[in-house]
Amino acid sequence: MRGIVCEEAGKFVYREDLPEPALNKGEAIVRIQRIGICGTDLHAYQGNQPYFNYPRVLGHELAGTIEALDENSYGLSVGDQVSIIPYIHCGECIACRSGKTNCCVSMKVFGVHIDGGMRERIAVPISHLIKTEGLTLDQAAMLEPLAIGAHAVRRSGLKAGETALVIGAGPIGLGIMALAKALGAKVIAMDVNEERLKHCRSWAKVNDTVNAQSKPKERISFITKGEFPSVVFDATGNARSMTGAFELASHGGRIVFVGLVKDEITFDDPEFHKRELTLMGSRNATKEDFDHVLRAILEGHMDISRYVTHGSAFGNMISEFDAWLKPESKVIKAVVTLED
Ligand SMILES: NC(=O)c1ccc[n+]([C@@H]2O[C@H](COP(=O)([O-])OP(=O)(O)OC[C@H]3O[C@@H](n4cnc5c(N)ncnc54)[C@H](O)[C@@H]3O)[C@@H](O)[C@H]2O)c1
Ligand SMILES: [Zn+2]
Ligand SMILES: [Zn+2]
Repeated sequence: MRGIVCEEAGKFVYREDLPEPALNKGEAIVRIQRIGICGTDLHAYQGNQPYFNYPRVLGHELAGTIEALDENSYGLSVGDQVSIIPYIHCGECIACRSGKTNCCVSMKVFGVHIDGGMRERIAVPISHLIKTEGLTLDQAAMLEPLAIGAHAVRRSGLKAGETALVIGAGPIGLGIMALAKALGAKVIAMDVNEERLKHCRSWAKVNDTVNAQSKPKERISFITKGEFPSVVFDATGNARSMTGAFELASHGGRIVFVGLVKDEITFDDPEFHKRELTLMGSRNATKEDFDHVLRAILEGHMDISRYVTHGSAFGNMISEFDAWLKPESKVIKAVVTLED
């Protein structure tokens, strides 16, 4: 079958001789039709994704159709359109036993630790399929990046009427903004990129935007009448921004680190203490988060046609990929289409 293999940093190879996946117990074979491209794929291609082994078939934002499947109690059948939960957890570790499968000790993610979906067919545990009736294939492929935001919002305990600051207006931050708005929170978006802030206003309908380079603390204080947001999400992947987040949260507030850096984050304890802050990590997502995003899309809270800004056919992906790495392309999300 056809597939694209990232042979080493900077090198994709288009192949027509990849082995077909075997159908094992409890699994389904999914014909892949859409592959969302995200920062992880870009970093893997550029060679700066930590702990990454080559060769690897990338792709973890996946939608397609079930072609074959084992007996199951999930109500799924051949021909169903599905989205894939790409995080394969062990089911036995301390995190899995407490239902936190998203931070499994032995997590294996499609396209990262094990081969992903840049190929015609993939075997997936049936438990990791979401039936996406009523969604387009593009919408179905976007459940994964948006579920990252849904998980962060759920973890924060954000409620209607509260004010949330979302730092970082990439695909992850945008999802947080739209889902926070959908539950009735007031949302302030912050980034260094004015173009992206514009997108936050028009796409996520945020209440205010702040440029992180022009006195953000004063501006956020002004917007919140000196109280500051009770929840601060950082989705920048920038250590300086994460450090700065501590002084942008209200007294009694929560900080959620959705972005991650290969670095140490330090904070001033008296500032942390006097606010009695709660600091949380947020990793991946669970089925509940995928279901939440699916409902939010069906209810019209997120316009996926304006979230997906770029696209290509599978056969052209290798030549388009370099352009998606360049800021001039203004890419927010690219989606690759694999036809029959
Ligand atoms: N929690 C998870 O499981 C999970 C999953 C996927 C991605 N991520 C992480 O989430 C983060 C965001 O992902 P993305 O794909 O949206 O990335 P992105 O790079 O597209 O977006 C990041 C945004 O942050 C902005 N930014 C950078 N430095 C800033 C600063 N100092 N102040 C304000 N804004 C700043 C950038 O301009 C950009 O718009 C990354 O760190 C990524 O690794 C986490
Ligand atoms: Zn992704
Ligand atoms: Zn586990």
